[in-house]
Amino acid sequence: MNAKENGSALLGALLAAGMLCCASAQATEPAVDVQPQFESYGDTKVIAVEPIRDMFSHKSHVVIAGLSCDSCHPDIFERKRGAAKANGDYNMASLEEGMYCGACHDGDMAFNTTGPETCKVCHGSDMKQPDEVIFNVPVKTVIFNHKEHVEMGLDCSSCHDQAFEMRVGAAEEQPEKFTMQALYDGKYCGLCHNGSDAFASDTRCTTCHIGVSGFERRFVSEAEEDEHGH
Ligand code: HEC
Ligand code: HEC
Ligand code: HEC
Ligand code: HEC
Ligand code: HEC
Ligand code: HEC
Repeated sequence: MNAKENGSALLGALLAAGMLCCASAQATEPAVDVQPQFESYGDTKVIAVEPIRDMFSHKSHVVIAGLSCDSCHPDIFERKRGAAKANGDYNMASLEEGMYCGACHDGDMAFNTTGPETCKVCHGSDMKQPDEVIFNVPVKTVIFNHKEHVEMGLDCSSCHDQAFEMRVGAAEEQPEKFTMQALYDGKYCGLCHNGSDAFASDTRCTTCHIGVSGFERRFVSEAEEDEHGH
């Protein structure tokens, strides 16, 4: 690609001149921060374990791919960290429609966003979805069938990151928050299980709480059958 070649050709000269930060910027513009950025998330979490929050690198785009500032600013991105996120439509659906990163990451100018092999390049994991999650904290054996919920037609963004992080175990790290009261207040599962979008959290307890015997019926006996099967 031309832009890339130009970028590499320029790189040596820029490094020598010690003015990498100002590649194609006007003199008045702030320097690009190529260091990883850290943000707090929720109470304690830090970006380093949340690749989704730190997947964009100016260095890769400006220095290595050789793109000028105005290929992104201000038409595709504001020059302000978190601005896209604040718009409320910064998700895979809008990317696939050609917004934000999707303006270039369309499989033509740059690798696509439809994966599966590309998920990893941006998100740092292959985004393998769990079939089922069994929560055991604070109480045992609450079943969440991830596969069924997705197959119902719910978008990933209806749960991530609004109700749940994209990481098994995250909600259970805060058992004092992951309670029925939180569900009744519209958090976690209660975002939908409110009696209008899906059955209410104060009804049908045993649909979610399958109990130890329900768990055994579902998983242990299956495993035993497999064992005795051969
Ligand atoms: C390939 C797209 C792209 C290019 C090219 C690009 N940027 Fe950015 N820039 C971004 C994104 C994405 C953000 C974060 C925006 C957001 O979070 O909504 C950003 C944010 C910024 C910020 C805010 C940083 C902060 O911490 O608040 C500044 C300043 C900035 N860019 C300057 C530049 C300059 C100067 C150039 C040219 C040397 C440049 N950018 C080239 C995509 C780009
Ligand atoms: C103006 C076009 C443009 C935009 C907008 C853009 N990219 Fe890129 N990106 C490129 C090009 C060109 C490359 C290098 C070619 C390739 O890898 O396909 C690249 C490479 C990458 C890489 C691989 C290099 C690396 O850092 O490891 C990642 C990851 C990436 N982009 C993520 C993003 C994300 C996330 C966004 C949105 C926040 C974004 N890009 C927005 C053009 C763009
Ligand atoms: C109805 C809610 C819901 C929907 C819709 C949903 N997820 Fe999830 N997802 C969850 C929950 C709950 C967890 C576990 C979070 C926890 O333990 O705190 C999870 C976890 C994950 C994980 C972490 C897997 C691991 O091993 O750590 C990935 C990846 C994921 N989801 C991807 C997706 C993708 C991709 C989509 C869209 C196709 C999607 N999810 C749609 C609720 C949902
Ligand atoms: C070019 C980079 C890029 C690629 C490739 C990419 N994503 Fe994303 N993804 C993003 C960005 C940017 C966001 C919004 C991040 C934010 O909200 O901070 C996002 C958000 C998400 C979300 C949460 C919001 C939503 O849209 O549901 C899920 C789930 C997700 N990506 C799954 C995937 C999967 C699965 C793949 C592979 C098929 C993939 N992504 C490939 C950049 C990418
Ligand atoms: C984004 C909305 C949404 C969220 C969040 C959500 N659900 Fe659901 N859930 C639904 C919908 C819609 C149905 C189907 C309609 C109904 O059964 O009322 C459903 C059905 C179910 C069912 C019955 C069908 C099945 O899979 O066996 C169970 C059990 C269930 N959800 C558990 C949970 C649990 C546990 C959580 C939290 C970890 C959760 N759901 C979070 C929307 C959601
Ligand atoms: C939509 C699914 C769902 C339904 C319906 C549901 N729960 Fe829960 N419940 C959860 C989840 C998720 C947790 C937190 C994870 C865990 O404890 O494993 C939880 C936790 C609890 C806890 C421990 C935390 C606390 O709040 O003290 C109790 C007790 C509980 N549920 C009782 C009930 C009773 C009684 C009902 C019926 C009136 C009920 N649940 C209905 C999903 C559900």
